[in-house]
Amino acid sequence: MEKLVSLAKRRGFVFQSSEIYGGLGSVWDYGPLGVELKKNVKERWWRSMVHEREDIEGLDAAILMHPKVWEASGHVAGFTDPLVDCKHCKNRFRADDPRIKGTPGQPDAQCPVCGSRGTLTPPRMFNLMFKTFMGPVEEAAAVVYLRPETAQGIYVNYLNVLQSSRQKIPFGIAQLGKAFRNEITPGNFTFRTREFEQMEMQFFVKPGSDGEWFEFWRHERMKWLVGLGLRPEKLRFHQHTREELAHYAKDAYDIQYEFPFGWNEFEGIHNRTDFDLSRHQQFSGKKLEYLDPATHERFIPYVVETSAGADRTTLALLCDAYREQEVAGEKRVVLQLHPALAPLKAAIFPLVNKDGMPELARRIFDDLRGRFNVFYDDSGSIGRRYRRQDEAGTPFGITIDGQSVAQDGTVTVRDRDTLQQERVAGERLAGYLAEKLRT
Ligand code: GAP
Repeated sequence: MEKLVSLAKRRGFVFQSSEIYGGLGSVWDYGPLGVELKKNVKERWWRSMVHEREDIEGLDAAILMHPKVWEASGHVAGFTDPLVDCKHCKNRFRADDPRIKGTPGQPDAQCPVCGSRGTLTPPRMFNLMFKTFMGPVEEAAAVVYLRPETAQGIYVNYLNVLQSSRQKIPFGIAQLGKAFRNEITPGNFTFRTREFEQMEMQFFVKPGSDGEWFEFWRHERMKWLVGLGLRPEKLRFHQHTREELAHYAKDAYDIQYEFPFGWNEFEGIHNRTDFDLSRHQQFSGKKLEYLDPATHERFIPYVVETSAGADRTTLALLCDAYREQEVAGEKRVVLQLHPALAPLKAAIFPLVNKDGMPELARRIFDDLRGRFNVFYDDSGSIGRRYRRQDEAGTPFGITIDGQSVAQDGTVTVRDRDTLQQERVAGERLAGYLAEKLRT
């Protein structure tokens, strides 16, 4: 993990937020390569959900919502962790922190940081939602929350989307965007952060068909993840036990990845029943029933949710792609990212900065950059330039040499993974790359 974090910083994937001020706890910024990688993940998700399916519509709801949304959803009452404080050193812990010996609140309990006995308070519930104030007055009436999940923006717009898109049940609504949680035990780089992006889809179905749709989406999501190039042996399902189920769920599976710090969830598929829509109907006083045009039945749809984290998916991809290899007695670090997800598709190198090579290389670069995110590099030895691009995960290195200029206009294309080089005619490069990047 340390090596990956260091590469992420060195190559401009991920930086600590506000680093020059000492950083802000568990908040991260994406650099020039990271923003491309995460954007590619999000675009691919959007394409597979919204563009390639007729039965799913897109939505972009605001982060700030009416505070009653979070009462209805159960987050005000139930989105909490039990915490204990040490009255001596003022540190705060989760009540189930394995380092705590004894029972918090009792004289035998010992603080895991300062070692004092009997100074831990009994557990108190702590809400994970960030609060802020709307309008100029900081009073209770003006409290609003930063959304802890994007899903609720979908539920409160379900009728708007249904009516404007003329969809019929079963159909889905997809949304991606920021979510915020005041996590108590954040960590593991971008795995658990206080600000993150979710890619969520809520599929509205007739009660009774929810089990079938749940199975459908569970397998569909696993297929999609394998299609990103994640190694199947590093992926598994984990079905929630009764104790693990969220307050809204009847059944739930996590999709877990084997991160360097162990198997952990990065996507969830939940059968949320009619919990959310029923609660919104109750709290808003607005009817959220669906009238089946064929049978004339009225019902509140059940919801099957697929909920992925864009940051965790990106982290899984980085972990999966990271390789240290030995090539001809030399060590190289390479990110073997799926070419369609790689931040840069190709790097263009004039072998030397003379004899017409830079001019031809520039022409090729200008020609390609209208269609692909490509990079021009003329500094350092060709070996060093290749190594930099290996670390960036760039699938192709295009070198313009003497033969390109003086003889036949062909260039060498080096494959990041096989290290094979082939000569390709300059004017065929765009087609060549398009073919190789097709997914
Ligand atoms: N709408 C359902 C929901 O939010 P969740 O299991 O709490 O379910 C779904 O979150 C996904 O959101 C997780 O699988 C993870 O990828 C991402 N996520 C949740 N909390 C996160 C955090 N603190 N940091 C980064 N990603 C997080």
